[in-house]
Amino acid sequence: MLDAGRTQETLLEVNNIEVIYNHVILVLKGVSLSVPKGGVTALLGGNGAGKTTTLKAISNLLHSERGEVTKGSILYRGERVQDLGPSDLVKKGVIQVMEGRHCFEHLTVEDNLLTGAYTRTDGKGAIAADLDMVYTYFPRLKERRKSQAGYTSGGEQQMTAIGRALMSRPETILLDEPSMGLAPQLVEQIFEIVKSVNENEGVTFLLAEQNTNVALRYAHYGYILESGRIVMDGPAAALRENPDVKEFYLGMADEGRKSFRDVRSYRRRKRWLS
Ligand SMILES: Nc1ncnc2c1ncn2[C@@H]1O[C@H](COP(=O)(O)OP(=O)(O)OP(=O)(O)O)[C@@H](O)[C@H]1O
Ligand SMILES: [Mg+2]
Repeated sequence: MLDAGRTQETLLEVNNIEVIYNHVILVLKGVSLSVPKGGVTALLGGNGAGKTTTLKAISNLLHSERGEVTKGSILYRGERVQDLGPSDLVKKGVIQVMEGRHCFEHLTVEDNLLTGAYTRTDGKGAIAADLDMVYTYFPRLKERRKSQAGYTSGGEQQMTAIGRALMSRPETILLDEPSMGLAPQLVEQIFEIVKSVNENEGVTFLLAEQNTNVALRYAHYGYILESGRIVMDGPAAALRENPDVKEFYLGMADEGRKSFRDVRSYRRRKRWLS
């Protein structure tokens, strides 16, 4: 049986990729994952696990970082995309929202959103309609639309970055660490919006998150990345109930909260690697 929100059609497929920075630093050591159309897929893991590197490998943004995919393949709708440029991928319907919510600080919120429509050729009317659609999801951005983006709050900048991605009418959004630096209530609000964009607009998401707890409540399926390797994957509901995930990523165990000392013995005791 399929999970809610997922179909069998696979949009994005990452097959056993290896990524090396500066010709020597091996960061991804054979990562595979697949993203079904219409789903929200989470890529989870702690600091430096390789989440951002994976997303950048997919959208061909590694070159500016002296990074390179040295093995494996990346397919979108069955077509090899790793030799394309980032803007070719946008034309195919895949857009990345970068970690740290990059906005054009000197532009207004509305002009930031409009820059997201630069590859479109379907005319002003369609773009204006989508601007309205973005404001429906993010009423706060409508209030702030004339403000210079650099002076808006972190949450508003994250909303602007996501709204800007929506303006390209994407099929798939790669969303890097949407919770970063935001208060819990705001994180929840952003994930609620992701959920409704997924359900109402049919946009597929691959989201990278350190915040396992919130990500597994909103995603359909999750992959856990550790030191450049996928160590576990499964439907989000199953991962949430998995004792290892509970203990190491959700900070709880059957007996209640674990102390830091217990968690430190984690490497030795990790059952899924043995
Ligand atoms: N440009 C680079 N050159 C060399 N090493 C890099 C570069 N970018 C990242 N790394 C290294 O690659 C590893 C993975 O980093 P990455 O940013 O992909 O992790 P992440 O899972 O996104 O972490 P975080 O949750 O902190 O954002 C880290 O060890 C990092 O130091
Ligand atoms: Mg990252």
